[in-house]
Amino acid sequence: MVIKQNVSLKAFNTFGIEAKASSYCDISTIDQLIRVLNGNKMPLFILGGGSNMLLTQNIDALVLHINLKGIEVIKETVDMVSVKVMAGENWHEFVLWCIEHNYGGIENLSLIPGNVGTAPIQNIGAYGVELKDAFISCEAVNTKNLIKKTFSKKDCKFGYRESVFKQELKGQYIITSVNFEFTKHNHKLNVDYGAIKEQLKISKVLKPTIKSISNAVIAIRKSKLPDPADIGNSGSFFKNPVISSNQFEELLTNFPNIPSYKISDKKIKIPAGWLIEKAGFKGKRFDDYGVHNKQALVLVNYGNAKGSDILNLAQLIQQTVLQIFDIKIETEVNII
Ligand code: EPU
Repeated sequence: MVIKQNVSLKAFNTFGIEAKASSYCDISTIDQLIRVLNGNKMPLFILGGGSNMLLTQNIDALVLHINLKGIEVIKETVDMVSVKVMAGENWHEFVLWCIEHNYGGIENLSLIPGNVGTAPIQNIGAYGVELKDAFISCEAVNTKNLIKKTFSKKDCKFGYRESVFKQELKGQYIITSVNFEFTKHNHKLNVDYGAIKEQLKISKVLKPTIKSISNAVIAIRKSKLPDPADIGNSGSFFKNPVISSNQFEELLTNFPNIPSYKISDKKIKIPAGWLIEKAGFKGKRFDDYGVHNKQALVLVNYGNAKGSDILNLAQLIQQTVLQIFDIKIETEVNII
């Protein structure tokens, strides 16, 4: 276990932003983690897959890169299987491992960037499924007193891209592993999402399986979302805003085609991508950064953009959307 000084984080964040960590340590065992935390007096910064953050400055802290690896079946019945996954496993590789073993539950979450340990923090979701649907519990270490704690699903207080780890326990725990429960047969397939139905039709799939759903999701995501290996990005930069049904009725008079999802009688969710597109930003490029041309929710770094450039663009988008629609859109990505 080596603590290095002045380390570039460009390769460790999917936005591909250059920023330096004053101290950096790669963590591959829980013992190492405890030892580092024990002797540490510096502020901490926990780095997982680096897929949900925008670095706008150098990090004057000890950056712990959580690289804990391993996947283990911990319980199995005729119908179900419980799997423990270490936090540093790549999320998509884990989804593929499940499909290879015919374990159903997270196939709709294929190709989401990031690591298993950071997935619960924002309760990752896509195409009608959220992490919480297959989640049982996670283990985490308290960064102050080093005590290990198991968090049940209830403890995590999952919401739309939300959990206790983003709110009242922010920065207080390091997730070391996550336990999931999957079906072994009679999988509960989630194909209601329009884009999935269309993709399955295109691929001429009549009887969907978890594998064909995963393939459909991969095809949809590849067609809309840039691959961080080619163009730096952090997926959806903003959350989809929720507005009152009264405000929605008013908006309909000026914007009769506004897409919406009803959440309750009083609340309506609007796709931020649509608002941003209508505000004229889709596909806009400024120097080395801009808004993706196929999905306006995604801000991109074409090469050497600075985090502060992207933050300024995000703020301009927020102001413009507020002016036009009187809707506040919040960032989904953590701004550092
Ligand atoms: N839309 C536009 N223009 C755009 C983008 C979207 O008009 O540039 C409109 C379209 O009408 C479309 C609707 O928005 O029908 C919804 O778009 P899409 O199905 O692509 O979903 P989204 O609401 O933009 C959310 C998640 C994605 C997830 C998809 C699929 C959030 C913030 N984003 O996007 O998550 O993949 O649904 O379930 O909830 C991520 O979190 O990084 C992410 C990519």
